[in-house]
Amino acid sequence: MATDTNKFQAIISHCKEYGFIFQSSEIYDGLSAVYDYGQWGSELKKNIRDYWWKSMTQMHENIVGIDAAIFMHPTTWKASGHVDNFSDPMIDNKDSNKRYRVDHLIEAHADLLEKEGKKAEADALLASMDALLAKDDLAGLKTLIEDSKIKCTVSGTANWTDVRQFNLMFSTQLGSVSDEASEIYLRPETAQGIFVNFLNVQKTGRMKIPFGIAQIGKAFRNEIVARQFVFRMREFEQMEMQFFVRPGTEDQWYEYWKAERLKWHLSLGIPAERYRYHDHVKLAHYAKAACDIEYEFPIGFKEVEGIHSRGDFDLSQHQLYSKKKLQYFDNEINQNYVPYVIETSIGLDRTILLVLSEAYTEEDLSTPEKQDSRVVLKFPPKLAPIKLAVLPLLKKDGLPEIARQIMDTCKPHFYCFYEEKDAIGKRYRRMDAIGTPFCITVDHQTKEDNTVTIRYRDSMQQERIPINKILEIVQKQIN
Ligand code: GAP
Repeated sequence: MATDTNKFQAIISHCKEYGFIFQSSEIYDGLSAVYDYGQWGSELKKNIRDYWWKSMTQMHENIVGIDAAIFMHPTTWKASGHVDNFSDPMIDNKDSNKRYRVDHLIEAHADLLEKEGKKAEADALLASMDALLAKDDLAGLKTLIEDSKIKCTVSGTANWTDVRQFNLMFSTQLGSVSDEASEIYLRPETAQGIFVNFLNVQKTGRMKIPFGIAQIGKAFRNEIVARQFVFRMREFEQMEMQFFVRPGTEDQWYEYWKAERLKWHLSLGIPAERYRYHDHVKLAHYAKAACDIEYEFPIGFKEVEGIHSRGDFDLSQHQLYSKKKLQYFDNEINQNYVPYVIETSIGLDRTILLVLSEAYTEEDLSTPEKQDSRVVLKFPPKLAPIKLAVLPLLKKDGLPEIARQIMDTCKPHFYCFYEEKDAIGKRYRRMDAIGTPFCITVDHQTKEDNTVTIRYRDSMQQERIPINKILEIVQKQIN
């Protein structure tokens, strides 16, 4: 059985072994903090993406979706503040040349202190760090690191450079002739594609405030400390929604979206005690108030989603830089204004890790006669990559033909998987390992009475049902 500390490692190995997530360009020894989703990982990703999209757009009449380009006019990032402010304080160790994000370095040291039973010291260290970060006191952060005798994990020394800000955006050149080419950025958040399209959507969709614009897409950040699997990647996917409101109503909408987004998480069937809110001490350059929804990963409570009250910062900045009015005429109060924004921003990859962490279960099935165990991914059926496996007991006697007919009936409705190789027990275990909630076995009795065995993944219970009930049973569970 994996303990909580090694459960994270077990999940990473399981993801690779069963076709969920691979290191990018693995045959060339991989690319750090970049990952590829395999056959079942990409299905899981699609299901989570679709679930978010449907609950944010289809289920909210006043939210619509867009799909903006990754490349944007470079002035976008000047206006948004990312060119000047999207940076993290970093420190290098002069002996190993290893670079650390200051907050991660200090947090790791605090963890160590806590493990040594020095909780008060760890808390005091984190409180000092929070205060210095809030003031952007880089010299103070360096002194804190030195006074706390924090050492580099590679060189083992405390020979540190000054703390410096390091911009996280990737840049590239647009255009073929180098002197005509302009520097553009890979977007570090999807939000700006929504802000620059605010008026396009508002006018063409005749949207009335309050209303939201949702978007799912790739974002890129040159993360320095990036070794927590898909938790912190350099290329990742965000699911964001900007909700435009009348100034003065932002606090009430901020509370509304905090509650609403937590409800969404709970609708995945995850127990409430695995979540907590974390209010930000140091606010991002655009935020007036911000809080994270944190989930208890096997590596501890960590941010999975951010709710931000962004005021009129973004629209006002784009108005200033583009010299185009980005205002709304509110005919209820007969006034023109730049709307305020509440943002909900969740990482798709982090949500996948959350769903995997929650689903991954090692079960000891030993009896006095026989040692046995299984690894099962207990995904909510609506998120499972494969919904139904159809398994003829034998490769002969007409059983594959009946199984194929069941496949043909079910596969237009949900993802089905056919397999006839190996003993039935082995096939069940393989389906458990990729989280398939239902297996159908076709046997000789099927030929006599048109019934099959349905096996439920979590309870491993089996029952006999008529073939014509399969579709209904599975659809009821996945909708
Ligand atoms: N538009 C606001 C924004 O981007 P953020 O807190 O920087 O806010 C939002 O990011 C979410 O995006 C995070 O809660 C996290 O789930 C995800 N995210 C951010 N950086 C990430 C990274 N390097 N790898 C994976 N997910 C990341």
